[in-house]
Amino acid sequence: MKFFLDTANLKEIQEAHDLGVLDGVTTNPSLMAKEGITGKQTILEHYKAICAIVEGDVSAEVVSTDSAGMLREAEELINIDPKIVVKIPMIKEGIKTIKALSDRGIKTNCTLVFSAGQALLAAKAGATYVSPFVGRLDDISMDGIQLIAQIITIYRNYGFKTQVLAASVRHPVHILKCAELGADVVTCPLNAITALLNHPLTDSGLAKFLADYNKGNQ
Ligand code: G3P
Repeated sequence: MKFFLDTANLKEIQEAHDLGVLDGVTTNPSLMAKEGITGKQTILEHYKAICAIVEGDVSAEVVSTDSAGMLREAEELINIDPKIVVKIPMIKEGIKTIKALSDRGIKTNCTLVFSAGQALLAAKAGATYVSPFVGRLDDISMDGIQLIAQIITIYRNYGFKTQVLAASVRHPVHILKCAELGADVVTCPLNAITALLNHPLTDSGLAKFLADYNKGNQ
């Protein structure tokens, strides 16, 4: 299972990279704005900075809503770095764009996916990744994890190559549920990943080991 960081924060990206568990990064315009990264040129430069840290795929989102505009943006984005994956919203024009880019061997991530039908279309169009938003479905009392299960079943039924990238993953239980189901990737904030480290028995066990070791050194 790949771990992607869902952030535009360079410090967090560096920290996850240094931990040795970072497989890629996903961004979106809201995450950029949260870091104060606004304006086209500044955003493009920021992608460069992210790619300099990360060894795997970096999703960069288009903001056009027509296919011609998305394709123009895609050209600019893929010129930044070979790690760039063009992130495209699940709308009719987006599907057309994903198909056109996939025919040219350009990697895509179909975002804002909230149903299995949308995920089926993304796979048919040849998306490299599909991003179902787990947490946002949970937020409206729907079962985000159930959607991941449904998409994985459908993709397995037909051998679709599109990777299931569970997005809007917010906490360690989301990560574990996605892992149980066999999601290819989770993308989440750093604190959801570091929360996997924690167990009170680890803390108390280590404290006891160290105390016992120190007895012999007194
Ligand atoms: O990758 C999509 C993600 O950024 C959405 O997460 O927490 O804003 O629902 P969230």
